[in-house]
Amino acid sequence: MMANVVVVGAQWGDEGKGKIVDWLSDRADLVVRFQGGHNAGHTLVVGENVYKLSLLPSGVVQGKLSLIGNGVVVDPNALLAEIERISNQGVKIDPTTLGLAENAALILPIHQDLDAARENEAGKNKIGTTGRGIGPAYEDKVGRRAIRVADLFDEASLKSKIERLMAHHRALRAGLDLPPIDGEKLFADLMALAPKLLPYVRPVWRDLEQARKDNKKVLFEGAQGILLDVDHGTYPYVTSSSTVAGQAASGSGTGPGNLDYVLGIVKAYTTRVGEGPFPTELFDDVGKGIGERGREFGTVTGRARRCGWFDAILVHQACCVGGITGLALTKLDVLDGVETINICVGYKLGDKVLDYYPSNLHAQANVEPIYETVEGWSETTFGARSWKDLPANAIKYIRRIEELVGRPIALVSTSPEREDTILVTDPFAK
Ligand code: GDP
Ligand code: IMO
Ligand code: MG
Repeated sequence: MMANVVVVGAQWGDEGKGKIVDWLSDRADLVVRFQGGHNAGHTLVVGENVYKLSLLPSGVVQGKLSLIGNGVVVDPNALLAEIERISNQGVKIDPTTLGLAENAALILPIHQDLDAARENEAGKNKIGTTGRGIGPAYEDKVGRRAIRVADLFDEASLKSKIERLMAHHRALRAGLDLPPIDGEKLFADLMALAPKLLPYVRPVWRDLEQARKDNKKVLFEGAQGILLDVDHGTYPYVTSSSTVAGQAASGSGTGPGNLDYVLGIVKAYTTRVGEGPFPTELFDDVGKGIGERGREFGTVTGRARRCGWFDAILVHQACCVGGITGLALTKLDVLDGVETINICVGYKLGDKVLDYYPSNLHAQANVEPIYETVEGWSETTFGARSWKDLPANAIKYIRRIEELVGRPIALVSTSPEREDTILVTDPFAK
């Protein structure tokens, strides 16, 4: 029996989802993105070629039908630019390999304006967003005034929708000292984009229904990570979408019964980019070394990622709320040569000991990690492709993580390269 697989990040994003989705795509018939937007940055390395994807599902590189689901917020300019950039790298992108849900909401320049203005206004309380307009676009979607993909092909309704949207944004912009919106220009720009997008636009839910009938294998690709989830993450230092596995169904147009295996991606340590609490963050040379060896700089914004130890409490919680069946452990090689490794197994808060991460922001920022220390390994794991190539202490570390988190490790990744991947259990083989 073959299963459908959902891939989600189980930390604060950048866990290596792109690499793993690309690797798994080989076994899938189609790949669907179900939330987020071009705040995502997924790096795929295949031999000499490096692909940096933000909106395109990572399945495009393997030539699989790749769908952008309704749960994604789509900046049409960014999408067209990415199609061009990736096509120029020799990847075939046409309506046989790419589809865009007609009911996805759009990100417009006014959303980016608002994102930037709010971050400026917030000063030291800023979220540290990617500046892509993600939050404001989701607000308009939930506020029932978004322009959606389908609106681009209906001139009359597009005009009235722009009116409605502007009525809301006019007041906001005035309050933030932003110049007024030129509605005519917005309309003209969208009409000019429409014919370029049209070939890709389709009812994505029907592709999923057909796949279900044909017993095809679907790979649902999440962006960001569960600790950035709008409900379960470190609110308000989160993104504005639901990043848990449940979103794969509603964000693409299928039922939860079609999600058979949820693969959580975790780094062998922890990183975070942007502001917000991070209990196991390192400020010393060990953290610096991890950042350098792991090349921890954001794909989207180029910002340095904060680095710290693996937090088993957070990942366990992410597995529970996110519905994770098994894990892919990435960047094990980055810990090569680290003499002793810490794993967070609990928190101290004042005189209390906690075995979970509380929702209160003050508590989130003030917990002190309780560490279990394990011995590192001096051998290299870089590029290892089989379990027997791993040093004994690396295997011990993997086994301890499985125990603490309560989920089996199905895959291990040991370099950015597609093929440097160890398969323990095939998520598609139910
Ligand atoms: P994503 O957002 O979850 O897809 O992750 P990113 O692509 O933003 O960040 C992960 C980075 O680590 C990318 O530059 C990958 O090429 C790289 N990477 C992925 N897996 C591994 C690994 O096992 N080892 C090393 N050294 N790098 C990896
Ligand atoms: P991938 O898919 C890491 C972070 C931002 C900021 C917060 C809100 O590559 O793992 P937003 O622009 O979404 O409103 O920013 O979320 N963030 C990410 N961090 N990886 C990502 O995506 C992220 N997408 C957003 O840094 O802290
Ligand atoms: Mg990323």
